[in-house]
Amino acid sequence: MCGIVGFAGKTKCIPIIYSGLEALEYRGYDSAGIAYIYNDKINIIKEKGKLINLKKKLDFDINSTIAIGHTRWATHGNANITNAHPHQVGKFTVVHNGIIENYIELKNKLSKKGYQFKSETDTEVISALLDYNYKLEKDILKAIDKTKKELIGSFALGILCSDDIKDIYALRYSSPLILASFTNGNFLASDIPAILNYTNKYIILENLEIAKINKETITIYNKDLKEVKHSYHTYNGEKSNVQKNSYEHFMLKEINEEDKVYKNTINSYFDGTLKSLNENFGFLKKYKKIDIVACGSAYHTGVIAKSLLENYANIKVYTEVASEYRYKKCFYDKDTLVILVSQSGETADTLAALRKAKNDKIKTLAIVNAIDSSIAREADYVLYTKAGPEIAVATTKAYLAQLTVFSLITLYLAYINNQLSSKEIDNIIKDIIKLPRLIKKEINNYQIYYNIADKIYENKQVFFIGRGLDYANSLEGALKLKEISYINSVAYQAGELKHGTISLIENKTPVIAIATDEVIIDKTISNIKEVKARNAYVIYVSSINPKDIFYDDFIKIEKVHPILQSILTIIPLQLLAYKVAKNNKCDIDKPRNLAKSVTVE
Ligand code: F6R
Repeated sequence: MCGIVGFAGKTKCIPIIYSGLEALEYRGYDSAGIAYIYNDKINIIKEKGKLINLKKKLDFDINSTIAIGHTRWATHGNANITNAHPHQVGKFTVVHNGIIENYIELKNKLSKKGYQFKSETDTEVISALLDYNYKLEKDILKAIDKTKKELIGSFALGILCSDDIKDIYALRYSSPLILASFTNGNFLASDIPAILNYTNKYIILENLEIAKINKETITIYNKDLKEVKHSYHTYNGEKSNVQKNSYEHFMLKEINEEDKVYKNTINSYFDGTLKSLNENFGFLKKYKKIDIVACGSAYHTGVIAKSLLENYANIKVYTEVASEYRYKKCFYDKDTLVILVSQSGETADTLAALRKAKNDKIKTLAIVNAIDSSIAREADYVLYTKAGPEIAVATTKAYLAQLTVFSLITLYLAYINNQLSSKEIDNIIKDIIKLPRLIKKEINNYQIYYNIADKIYENKQVFFIGRGLDYANSLEGALKLKEISYINSVAYQAGELKHGTISLIENKTPVIAIATDEVIIDKTISNIKEVKARNAYVIYVSSINPKDIFYDDFIKIEKVHPILQSILTIIPLQLLAYKVAKNNKCDIDKPRNLAKSVTVE
């Protein structure tokens, strides 16, 4: 959601800023703009829609060495040129990620002082406030400091001031910002991919710190305006991770990486012995109650984990979406652990839920993919998923890695709570070891799922049904399909359909019925027969061969222990969604209206 790149250096900056913005495209945006210094003046170029539209307006050869660039995901006002960043008021030009909650009050105050506004954005108000405070303080740093104290909300800012055309200023609160340098200059950026063409070393700007960046140096001021030094972090992922290579879409590439992602995640915490689980998860022993909080797909892994932890480890789990949890009464006790699940580690609601738990002195565990992200840094404990950078907006491999961590946690807690026999533990370990091969096999079966996609892609609605764990799998299958193909797909508990929803079943309505849970499979099959009797087009997804034919298509998945089963169940559903979206000519990696990193509430 929104991306910032700033560069001050000894070399032409437009190509650098543009390639940085391209690297941040995956976050989601609907307009873009650049402000650059040329002939001692700040020049602004903006365009709505994709970066390619902006590219047509840019002079890549212009002799400018200082610029800030931005991709905007509309929050306040439509996606048009006026609302696109940068926003200039008086001497200040600003790019912004985040949301200013008190912008109406500030706008009213500044309007009374004579400021006029062209856009509907909260960002333009920041530019005006900076300009106003600069008139009072007569010092850029002090003006930024005063401004940060008046803003309520979240903000990562890149700032240019026409009285100081050698420097870029940066400020952040709640939204992330990194700083980096290489031989030809210095950067600010909202995310690591923006700098990877030049360096893999970066500094994390902390909340309420201000940075001043020019071609020679990066200077950081803490919240009291005292100069501070931060050490550099190193990003060790492959740079090629963020290229599409020969794949048509990032989503397809990322699904094809799932066996490796699974292996990397397992290998980080488990060497085949229970001792290794104890070393990595021993801290979990003392918690008797778990809250799992996350958004979207990450929330779905929490729904699966609830089912696993309750059924196999005998631990009481409460799972909730973060946007609800953060405003809800929570019934904590001293041995509650709150687990936050997030790919980006920057999701605003999940971060707020984490802070709520910490505020109540409850211990927190982050299961996070992005190293050094806000959620990873603020939680008491962190378990990293090893998915590597995920570029497609729709999560696939990071989701699978989250499930992998939850499977290991369930195995460990089930073991220490004496819920599994040693024979069952041995069988689970055997399954853990053979899973990469089974994941690959399922991916290689893509043609089966593609053939089914070819039959259903023109439908306006698709239903997913399942019971228990399979209902949780249905939730993710339905989300994957709707977010990239724009088909209205919804998940229901299979037994719940006849209480209303079954009235929507018409001739040939696709129903994707998931049944991997042997204990309850007969009940699910009865529900499938109910929709089949109403002429639904049934796609049966199961690890168990059916005794009779009540389906139109059958996706057979490999059978493993239920603690691991969902890792396999999701793969055909991801590939099915992919092909449906492809047939519908959708923008698979960047679905409309969506952002990869949801940094606003
Ligand atoms: C769906 C998807 C989203 C994210 C959600 C949370 O494919 O990607 O539903 O799962 O926005 O994001 P993270 O995991 O970054 O907190």
